[in-house]
Amino acid sequence: MRLNVITLFPQMVSDALSYGVIGRAIKQGVIELVLFNPRDYAQNKHNTIDDKPFGGGAGMVMMHDPLFRTWQDIKNKGESGPLVFMSPQGQKVTQKLCNDWSELPALTLLCGRYEGIDQRFLDGYVDEEISLGDYVISGGELAACVLIDAVARQIKGVLGAEESAKTDSFMTSMLAPPQYTRSELLGQSGVPDVLLSGNHKAIAEWKSQQALTVTKQKRPDLIAGTSGD
Ligand SMILES: C[S@@+](CC[C@H](N)C(=O)[O-])C[C@H]1O[C@@H](n2cnc3c(N)ncnc32)[C@H](O)[C@@H]1O
Repeated sequence: MRLNVITLFPQMVSDALSYGVIGRAIKQGVIELVLFNPRDYAQNKHNTIDDKPFGGGAGMVMMHDPLFRTWQDIKNKGESGPLVFMSPQGQKVTQKLCNDWSELPALTLLCGRYEGIDQRFLDGYVDEEISLGDYVISGGELAACVLIDAVARQIKGVLGAEESAKTDSFMTSMLAPPQYTRSELLGQSGVPDVLLSGNHKAIAEWKSQQALTVTKQKRPDLIAGTSGD
């Protein structure tokens, strides 16, 4: 999958995605991360990409023209997929959305900065607005990285068999069951006997029972189907 990111801080995105399973997938070419800086498309002496808002008000606004040229270039260079604006005003990211988008050949994420982006660019070219949640952060980069990580985990070849996403929380209407591992300080004390039994059928039953218990305790809305996701 090709992931284009339009950002004034490309290093922030490439650094954040350089770790763990996602970093490995990028290195191995399972996902292709391509960064575009609107400043490279500014076409003026000072590479200006922002200006004061018409009508006054605090802060600066990202200008239409550099973003327009960036988007044209992305489309000319190959697969662009839908253009997604990371925005507090958008639909919230859900596991279902990430699963669905992991099937796409490409996706382009637009990271806002300052007070936001000239509405004419958003109206003209953005296909979807996607939010991390009902709060405002200083730029779209962290939101884009969260979305990329959650989408990329679902792409075949990104997680090894030992890191399967199938049993993760939200892949069904259940949260994941608790996990235990070796401790020199605690020994096997507190570990449910069934997990040490070697009985795979009993272990699988225990895990689904625990997933149900944990979900009832922490997120009963998921079982009732009222989470709104
Ligand atoms: C300081 S915010 C601008 C917020 C804008 N003035 C508003 O109130 O809707 C700058 C950029 O950060 C990103 N951003 C902020 N909060 C976000 C959120 N909850 N989810 C996704 N992106 C967000 C957006 O790209 C936004 O354009």
